[in-house]
Amino acid sequence: MDIMDRLGHLGVIPVVKIDQADRGPRLAEALSKGGLPCAEITFRTDAAEEAIRLIAKSQPELVVGAGTVLSVAQAQKAVNAGARFIVSPGFDPKVVDWCQLQKVPVIPGAATATEVLMALDKNLTILKFFPAEAAGGIPMLEALAAVFAGIKFVPTGGITASNLVAYLKLPMVFAVGGSWLVPSKLISAGNFDEITRLTVEAVAMVRTERLKGKEK
Ligand code: 3PG
Repeated sequence: MDIMDRLGHLGVIPVVKIDQADRGPRLAEALSKGGLPCAEITFRTDAAEEAIRLIAKSQPELVVGAGTVLSVAQAQKAVNAGARFIVSPGFDPKVVDWCQLQKVPVIPGAATATEVLMALDKNLTILKFFPAEAAGGIPMLEALAAVFAGIKFVPTGGITASNLVAYLKLPMVFAVGGSWLVPSKLISAGNFDEITRLTVEAVAMVRTERLKGKEK
């Protein structure tokens, strides 16, 4: 299974904002223990690059990627540190071109038809729908999907345990992203058991929903 397939199979991408890089391995362990061996470490803090490095080293089986990548320089840093996929909140052709040249999976953000068209021009078919809830949520996703057959989305922004299932039900949803299961507060407090609990809860929802889908 390639990286994208693994993310799609897992169904949820935990979006992490981490302030202390040395908490990365413990966090990764908590996610794996909960049944979700993947993490998107966002470049919203100075600790991101080092956290990716430490996680990649300590948990090579976990799929670690970088999020909130706003420039080619950040993408380079992330990949050098061990990131195996790149996520951006928007569509920057420079970041996409660099990733494609390096053969690094990239999930750029798109919240409008124009952005989806820009992504299609680069032969990308899996896009982050961001900020999902603020950009129109499920009705917007359905409207986009109606004209862009074949495009799959990773809705992110405002997804929680309470609306996760509603998104997962949609055929154009590849996976969802969110920070609800990895709150920065819990990471800072070292409350990794609670992160595992939230992860187990999310994984159970994905499994139940997908089993239902198969039964139909
Ligand atoms: C992101 O960086 O992808 C989003 O800000 C995550 O959104 P959330 O915090 O609402 O899950």
